[in-house]
Amino acid sequence: MKITSKELRRKWLEFYESKNHVNIGAVSLIGDGSTGVMFNVAGMQPLMPYLLGRKHPEGKRLCNIQGCVRTVDIDSVGDASHFTFFEMMGNWSLGDYFKKEKTAWTFELLTKVFGLDKDKLCATVFEGNDAAPRDDETAELLKNLGIKSEHIFFLPKSDNWWELEGTVGTPCGPDNEWFYPLDCEKKEPVFPDDYVEIGNDVYMQYKKLENGYAPLDNKNVDTGFGFDRMLLFLNGLRDGYKTDLFLPVIEKLEELSGRKYDLNEEDAKAMRIIADHTRTAVMLIGDSQGILPSNTGAGYILRRLMRRAIRYCRQLEISSGAMLCAAEIFTNIYGEAYPLLNEKKNYILEEIKREADKFEATLAQGMKEFEKCVGSLMRKNEFMTKSQPDYVKETEIAGKQAFRLYDTYGFPLELTEELAGEQGLTVDKKGFEQAFEEHREKSRVLAAGQFKGGLESHSENATKYHTATHLLNAALKIVCSPDIQQKGSNINEERLRFDFNFSRKLTPEEVAEVEKLVNEQIKKGIPVVMKEMSLEEAKNGGFVGVFESKYGESVKTYSIGEFSKEICGGPHVENTSSLGTFKIAKQENVSAGIKRIKAVLV
Ligand code: ALA
Repeated sequence: MKITSKELRRKWLEFYESKNHVNIGAVSLIGDGSTGVMFNVAGMQPLMPYLLGRKHPEGKRLCNIQGCVRTVDIDSVGDASHFTFFEMMGNWSLGDYFKKEKTAWTFELLTKVFGLDKDKLCATVFEGNDAAPRDDETAELLKNLGIKSEHIFFLPKSDNWWELEGTVGTPCGPDNEWFYPLDCEKKEPVFPDDYVEIGNDVYMQYKKLENGYAPLDNKNVDTGFGFDRMLLFLNGLRDGYKTDLFLPVIEKLEELSGRKYDLNEEDAKAMRIIADHTRTAVMLIGDSQGILPSNTGAGYILRRLMRRAIRYCRQLEISSGAMLCAAEIFTNIYGEAYPLLNEKKNYILEEIKREADKFEATLAQGMKEFEKCVGSLMRKNEFMTKSQPDYVKETEIAGKQAFRLYDTYGFPLELTEELAGEQGLTVDKKGFEQAFEEHREKSRVLAAGQFKGGLESHSENATKYHTATHLLNAALKIVCSPDIQQKGSNINEERLRFDFNFSRKLTPEEVAEVEKLVNEQIKKGIPVVMKEMSLEEAKNGGFVGVFESKYGESVKTYSIGEFSKEICGGPHVENTSSLGTFKIAKQENVSAGIKRIKAVLV
C-alpha cells in the first residue's frame, strides 16, 4: 500500500488542523430528521443549520471525516465501486475564508501532501445561469496556482452545482470539482474520459427555495473528498474491495468458502455484497444512535442489507457465521476511528447473530417456496405456449406470493425482486402492497377490537400539550443539537413529558433559551396547518417523524410556520396563541443518552 487508511485519515485532519480548523469528529449516521432522510448522506448534512447561519460552538473553521450511508442503489452493490457506507473527508468555512484560501489549500493538499502532478490536475467550475453567475473568480485563482488553463472547464448546473436533491430550505451553491487521471502513468490523458473526480469544493452561498434560490448572508465553503475513493485512487487500485478497509474481510471469506475472489466474478460479487452489507450493519448497529433490524424505516433498510448478505452467504455455501467473522474484522479496522465500535463490539456481534439465526431458519424453506412459484409459472407458460403458439408468457410473480414470502419467510420484497430478476422475472409490486394493506387492515380490526374503550380521549388540554410538544422538539433541535430526536412522549391533562437523545441535562441557560423560543412561537400566534400527503412528499418537505411505513400511503403532517414540521396523527390546536405560557418543570435521566423533560403550560 502506498498509503494506508489510517495515514489518509491522519493526513486529512492534520492538514486542515494546520490551517486552524477544529476537528469536530463524526456524528451519528442516522439522519437528524431535519431533511427527512433516514441517514446522513453527505458530510455537510449535520452542519446544515450552521451553513444557514447559526453560530457553531467550535468556530468558523471545521473539519472531520463523516460516515454516510446511501441506500439508493443497494442492488448495484456487488461490483467493484458501489458501497452503502462510505466516509466523506470534509472541511468547512462558516462565513470565514472563501475561494482564494480554499483553492490554494486544496491545491496544496493534492500536490504537496498527496504528491499529485499539477500539470495533470483538471478542474471544473460553474458556467453560470439565471440563479448564479459564472465562476470566473475560481477559474482565475486556479490558473494562478498553476493549473493549466486548458485544464479548467466551465460546466452547467447539472455538473457544477451541489445541493441535496428533493429538499427545500437547505444550503447549496456552485462547486469546483477536482479531477485526476485514473491511470497516473498515462502519457497524455484526455479529460473527461481518462479522468476521475477526486473531490469537491462547494461554495455554499444560497438557500434552496421551493422555486429558485435565495442568497445567504454567509459565504460558506463545504468541501467533500470521498475517503474510500481517495484511498483507492492514491493506491493506484481500481477495486474498492482491495483497500485495507476491506481486504482482510475478503481474505477471510476466501478462507471460509475455499473460493478465490479473483477467479470467479460470481463469487467476487457474493463476497463484496457480504462485506459491504456487513460493514454497514456494523456501523448502524454500533452507531451512537444505533438501530436494530426491524420492519419499518431505517431498521427495515438494515434488515434488507443483512438478509441480502445472508442470502449471498448461502450462495457461497457458507453459514451466516461468516458475517460474524467479517463483523469482528470490521470492528478492528474501524475501532480506532470509531471507538464506540470497540465498546459495543459484543452487542453488535450478538445482534448480527440474532438476525442471522432468525433469517437462516426460514431462508431455505423460503427459497423452496420461491422456486415453487417460479416452477409453476414456467410450467404454465410452457403448457400455454404448446396449446396457443401466440400466447404471451407471464413474467410476473404474483403480489400475494411475494407477500407470503415476506410474511412467512421474512423475505424483504426487494430480495424477492432480486431473485426474480435473476430468472428474468419481475414481481407485481402493486399486488404486494395490496396484500400488505389487506393484512394490515385485518390486524387493525383485530387490535381495535382488543383495545376498544381504551382509546385516549383528547381533551382541550391534552391537545394543547400535543402542540407544545412539537414546539419543544423543534426548540431542542435549535438550542441543543440538530441530532435531537423524539424518543418517547406522554401527555396528560397536566403536563407533557418528552424523551429525547442527549448526553447530559440542559444547562439553566439552555432551559431558558428553549422556553424563550417556544414562548416566542406562542406569542406570534402561528396557525397550525395540517396537510395530508404521501410519506415521500413529507420526507422531501422536511417533515420529521418516525417514518413508520415504506409503502407510500398518505400521512398527516403538521407545520407551525417554518419552526416545526412533523409527521403526526394529531390532534393539535388551530393556532399557537391558545397555548398560554410554556415552562420546563423538570429534567430527568431516562437512560444513558436519553433525557426527559416535563413541561407545563400555565
Ligand atoms: N457536499 C459536497 C459533496 O457531498 C461536498 O460532495
